[in-house]
Amino acid sequence: MYQLDELLTLLERKIKTLELPKTPNLLYDPISYTLNASGKRIRPLMLLLAANMYDDRIDEALNAALAIEIFHNFTLLHDDIMDNAPVRRGRPSVYARWNSNVAILSGDAMTILAYRQLAECRPDKLSVLLGEFNKLAIGVCEGQQYDMDYETRDDVSINDYIGMITLKTSVLIAGALKMGAIIGNAPRTDCDRLYEFGLRLGIAFQIQDDMLDLYGNQNFGKPIGGDIVSGKKSFLHLKAMEKADADGRRRLTELLRDSALPDREKIAKMRVLYDHYDVKAEAAVSINRYFGEAMEILETVDLPDSRKTEMKALSLQLLNRDK
Ligand code: IPE
Ligand code: IPE
Ligand code: MG
Ligand code: MG
Ligand code: MG
Repeated sequence: MYQLDELLTLLERKIKTLELPKTPNLLYDPISYTLNASGKRIRPLMLLLAANMYDDRIDEALNAALAIEIFHNFTLLHDDIMDNAPVRRGRPSVYARWNSNVAILSGDAMTILAYRQLAECRPDKLSVLLGEFNKLAIGVCEGQQYDMDYETRDDVSINDYIGMITLKTSVLIAGALKMGAIIGNAPRTDCDRLYEFGLRLGIAFQIQDDMLDLYGNQNFGKPIGGDIVSGKKSFLHLKAMEKADADGRRRLTELLRDSALPDREKIAKMRVLYDHYDVKAEAAVSINRYFGEAMEILETVDLPDSRKTEMKALSLQLLNRDK
């Protein structure tokens, strides 16, 4: 079996094989800019690990891993337009560096490149992989629309939120794992278990993203307080709403809606409220709960522990991340 750092090296090498035309440069430059940035590569690594748990060779899985990473990066181009988020991975996001039209079209081209890469997978696996890819891709779109819908709704529950992040974030991680397992010829039950593992891990991952959005440091690479500025029903906000009385809920809602307040002031005021309801600790509790559930599911995967070491290591890296 490969170790995590070896898989990362192979993946980076695979990404470099992607030959993009030079022109039109406003279509292709943003794609290289994005794919060569400091992404964590979690999803393709998960896919490669899932395949490698069952098969010592991973050449076949590299095509699908690259497809998944290109698709993920596409979602970020459009997500930053939708969230008015001018900074990603510590640099201007694509729409901020170029403009929204560029980010839309380069993003569109990336979905096509992702499918083109997927088509390089072995023909006998292609139809089932395509089915999984389509399922995760449409799931992400549904989740993104719920995320936007919730900005203007005041009756969003934590339950609604979990459903929304399962779609926008978890199905991509879960689908990547399942695709890897399929390529590795894992038994059907293990493909499904790894999918479930990915769903739980993805929920923990997104709650943590929401937590780091306010309580993270420089390494996060995204502006602190961005979710508050764009009026997101983040985990932090919904937890505060759940714990507050009627008066507290009114203050939270009014402040999140207040568009006249300068960003810095709005973030600072909201942070006082969130701190009052201790939502950072609440987030940690939920992250640990979903992470624990994920690990329990990984235990049921029908392989010796020695084949799961790297998957556990990557999961722990995610749990302890600050970026
Ligand atoms: C960002 O994903 C989008 C979310 C689901 C929170 P990552 O945090 O994996 O982004 P990169 O690719 O490492 O920058
Ligand atoms: C992530 O949601 C979901 C997708 C990008 C599909 P966020 O909007 O929280 O992701 P970041 O924080 O911008 O990376
Ligand atoms: Mg965003
Ligand atoms: Mg978003
Ligand atoms: Mg976020």
